[in-house]
Amino acid sequence: MERNTTTISREDIARQMDYCHAVAQLNAQRPQPPLAFVDTYGCQQNEADSERIRGYLQEMGYGFTQDEEQADVIVINTCAIREHAEQRVLGNLGALVHVKRRHPGQLICLCGCMAQEAHVAQKVKESYRHVDLVFGPQVLWRFPEFIHSLLTARGRVFQTPDLPGSIAEGIPVVRQDKVKAWVSIMYGCNNFCSYCIVPYVRGRERSRQPEDILSEVRQLVEEGYKDITLLGQNVNSYGKDLENPMDFADLLSQVNDIPGDFLIRFMTSHPKDATQKLFETMARCEKVAPVLHLPFQAGNDRILKVMNRRHTREQYLEKIRALKALIPDIVLTSDVIVGFPGETTEEFEDTLKVLEEVRYDALFTFIYSPRVGTPAAKMDDPMPREEKLRNFNRLVALQDQISEEKHAAYIGKTVRCLIDGQGDDAEYPFTARTPGNRLVRVKGGTADDVGQFREIHITGANKWSLYGEMTEK
Ligand code: 5AD
Ligand code: SF4
Repeated sequence: MERNTTTISREDIARQMDYCHAVAQLNAQRPQPPLAFVDTYGCQQNEADSERIRGYLQEMGYGFTQDEEQADVIVINTCAIREHAEQRVLGNLGALVHVKRRHPGQLICLCGCMAQEAHVAQKVKESYRHVDLVFGPQVLWRFPEFIHSLLTARGRVFQTPDLPGSIAEGIPVVRQDKVKAWVSIMYGCNNFCSYCIVPYVRGRERSRQPEDILSEVRQLVEEGYKDITLLGQNVNSYGKDLENPMDFADLLSQVNDIPGDFLIRFMTSHPKDATQKLFETMARCEKVAPVLHLPFQAGNDRILKVMNRRHTREQYLEKIRALKALIPDIVLTSDVIVGFPGETTEEFEDTLKVLEEVRYDALFTFIYSPRVGTPAAKMDDPMPREEKLRNFNRLVALQDQISEEKHAAYIGKTVRCLIDGQGDDAEYPFTARTPGNRLVRVKGGTADDVGQFREIHITGANKWSLYGEMTEK
């Protein structure tokens, strides 16, 4: 297949670094080092993007704060998946007008998926005049240039070009965590599920070169990272656009071959592209965590068809059975939408049947939210909101019961977990993750255990988490 992915050249990134250094010189003249606040909404891809925004900001001489009153630059990295989150962002953005009044010269920036929506950018331009910069995900790599322009020229900057997207290597990164790291392996989505805004705002699928991914992971492992998540909207179509095509399973094998004691996770997988080869690779590769997030969205074939999911319920279940046959203790999670336009309660009950058959360890549940510009937003949606809510509550109740039962089955076992942080529970001061990514609250241990794999004896459980004790090292 012809590679039509645009790669941003090293020279282009070098020019952005020059902008960083020019901004750093301006900042060096201030009486105190300036501060930036980066606020992230949405998925891990956004978290990963925010780590790059912080990387650039650090090069520009900014320190970091969580307090918008202290910040000289505020960056809000947004999500467009559901309307509710958008309303919240617009509410918070509106309130910043008062903060900025107390802090003249403060720069307010909006980016991410929501910023890329034409109607949002328009609204901000007209009604949120205190917002200085709006930029979309496709031009994140030009962030230093935009900040430089704001500091040296008058006026606001709006940059949301409708581009298919590109790959930019070499952007600096400030990671939020010392134990877990995100590694984007591809960007964009070609699937156009009929409810979803992502393909419109994140552009077409494009894969990073495998050697760039492998060297990033190698470096993370050398730095001591223990839990690495490979990210993409649909990782199972990784590599289709590369000059030397390779598939996701091959990439996974190569990441697994990197020496070191670490776990590999990945998300998100699309069921239509999840292959037997992938499952066999997961079973064979000892560093690949025994967990799969495989969204099914709905259990009814008519709804799956209008969602444009391109798989049936039986095809999905067949894949789950094949995976369980290879990895019996696989931890499964999924995304589900309730109340898609035209879904009847009877059709919704097919979703419950999938839960009963698969028995997910955890589920991410969403009430359908119409997104401007998607085909589903134009479909008839006669079901009253109360009925959707009733169905949603039935779904959550069933999943809570299954999660509780699945968690209870851990009691009495000893599991090698990654201690990933300190929690706020005095009795169980540490948090850990099982290989399948279930949260464990841990008694015993010291701060030195954070970032290490430890044997944890599981003593209790509820629907949200497990409880355990660190056994002798
Ligand atoms: N309404 C509700 N949920 C949605 N998702 C995506 N678009 C919408 C929408 N318009 C959910 C899907 C997807 C997850 C990330 O968000 O379940 O897998
Ligand atoms: Fe959205 Fe479907 Fe692409 Fe996932 S696969 S990002 S749900 S269009």
